[in-house]
Amino acid sequence: MPIDATKSVKEIVLEVPASISVFERLGIDYCCGGDQQLEAACQAAGRPVEEVLRSLEAAKTATHGETSILDWSREPLARLMSHIVEKHHTFCREQVSRLEPLLAKVSEAHGARHPELRRLQNLFAGMSKELLMHLVKEEQTLFPYIAHMEETVRQGRPLLRPAFGTVQNPVRMMVLEHDNAGATLHEMRRLSRDYEVPADGCNSYRALYDGLMTFESDMHQHVHLENNILFPRAVGMEDAAVAQEKPAGT
Ligand SMILES: [Fe+2]
Ligand SMILES: [Fe+2]
Repeated sequence: MPIDATKSVKEIVLEVPASISVFERLGIDYCCGGDQQLEAACQAAGRPVEEVLRSLEAAKTATHGETSILDWSREPLARLMSHIVEKHHTFCREQVSRLEPLLAKVSEAHGARHPELRRLQNLFAGMSKELLMHLVKEEQTLFPYIAHMEETVRQGRPLLRPAFGTVQNPVRMMVLEHDNAGATLHEMRRLSRDYEVPADGCNSYRALYDGLMTFESDMHQHVHLENNILFPRAVGMEDAAVAQEKPAGT
């Protein structure tokens, strides 16, 4: 069945995981802005919807029958969270340690001719500080609660109410923090003119912009897994468990 442009970007990513690479390449927001209809998202990115649909159909055909793309909407939540932590949280921490000194070095060498580097350095430092705390909140509070909830539901036992009341509360906070990081990454892309290395840029400049683009792309995939798959599934699981515990007729 052809891809329907009136569907949300999030729905298309869930149906066709290979569409992530197309959306990354064309600058279409599929994580924080995943609720937008494809048509609106194409317009926001300045891409004709027909061109995007052609690329999506090609990606779908190219990966047809491929079994290596895991369908995270069906895997156990504990497995999805392990994947997020091992792949994306590890990558985020490694890249923050690598890119912060590289930004300082390039900014020091080229900041006089390219003042946007200092702004990029400040934006990245602020975002990284917030992100590192965000990862700890997920790893120490939210993810263990979701894993515990999933196991409790699997065993058919009643849910114990967490200190934060309902899983929706930390989820709302995490989504807000994702939006903040997304807005910073967007501003960094604008300031760097889509990470275009200037003619007088050195190899470190190139390595920096390359690293920042890879960081951005990994964040998009990371936030997509949480906002569009993990969090809605955890909220749905809690709602279903609570509804089952209520005596009939209440
Ligand atoms: Fe995360
Ligand atoms: Fe997160």
